[in-house]
Amino acid sequence: MATANFVKFGLFALFLTLLGCERQVSFADDVQPIMLASCVECHNESAEGYAASGFSLSDYDSVMKGTKFGPVVVANSSASSTLYLVIAHKTAPEIHMPPHHEDAWAEGRGTPLTDKQIETIGAWIDQGALNN
Ligand code: HEC
Repeated sequence: MATANFVKFGLFALFLTLLGCERQVSFADDVQPIMLASCVECHNESAEGYAASGFSLSDYDSVMKGTKFGPVVVANSSASSTLYLVIAHKTAPEIHMPPHHEDAWAEGRGTPLTDKQIETIGAWIDQGALNN
């Protein structure tokens, strides 16, 4: 009996530790630096990404406003967010962002985000896409 309780306690402690790993992602500290480094050069009001899509990633409000066709961030659902799908290689390669394929529709070239950066942006969306 004592052993069983010990095992249960151990599992519970492990569970709490795993929960603790799901930390709150911050827009200002975690997400925006990635966008400033990898997106804003094309997605600001005087660059090609903005000209083609109407999408500026310069600040929180413009990220949430989306493209000329509408929002690309659906709070709490990275799987429904175009912004996530294009960075996570879940769309046609031509529109992967930043553009890095031979046949990319965009003229410029970028470097794909790292898995960790993609995960950070996905987690930020899944945690509500807050201005935090
Ligand atoms: C080299 C320039 C460039 C860079 C860097 C870039 N983009 Fe783009 N982006 C474009 C262009 C050009 C388009 C319009 C593509 C098209 O013809 O649909 C676009 C379109 C988009 C769209 C709209 C897609 C759609 O079909 O609605 C999203 C979302 C997007 N980019 C997100 C990003 C994100 C996030 C980053 C940074 C991780 C990024 N882009 C980096 C050039 C760029």
